[in-house]
Amino acid sequence: MSEDIYREIILDHYRNPRNKGRISDADVSFHDSNPLCGDEIDIHLKVEDNIVKDIKFEGRGCAISQASASMLTEMVMNKPLTSVKELGKDDILENIGLVNLGPARIKCALLSLKVLKMSMVEYYASKDPESAQEIREGSRLY
Ligand code: FES
Repeated sequence: MSEDIYREIILDHYRNPRNKGRISDADVSFHDSNPLCGDEIDIHLKVEDNIVKDIKFEGRGCAISQASASMLTEMVMNKPLTSVKELGKDDILENIGLVNLGPARIKCALLSLKVLKMSMVEYYASKDPESAQEIREGSRLY
């Protein structure tokens, strides 16, 4: 796909975000912001049988951070936590499809992944502290 098509997809997710909102009985919620600009993302997760049964996000910020959050919710909906744990920076950047993003824009694109990973740290904290620690260390890379 050409970069123009990826730009259109990003704008579409920004204008019509998927899975935006709250989950009233979420198993875990996490909030964080990009310290460089203050843009924010909240992620709410509902987990059943180690599968993401529902995920919603709330946020405020640039087109890339908000579109990336919307796209991320589609990527992980109904996926096992084991595969969500494995998601990394390259999966997100590939999904967004914009090459030559500068370091500041990469932070925009990865903000929602960082928040999702920290949601999982919270989720695993009491159930499996070793996994929680592993995910926490991985998310420092973003
Ligand atoms: Fe703030 Fe993109 S400019 S996250």
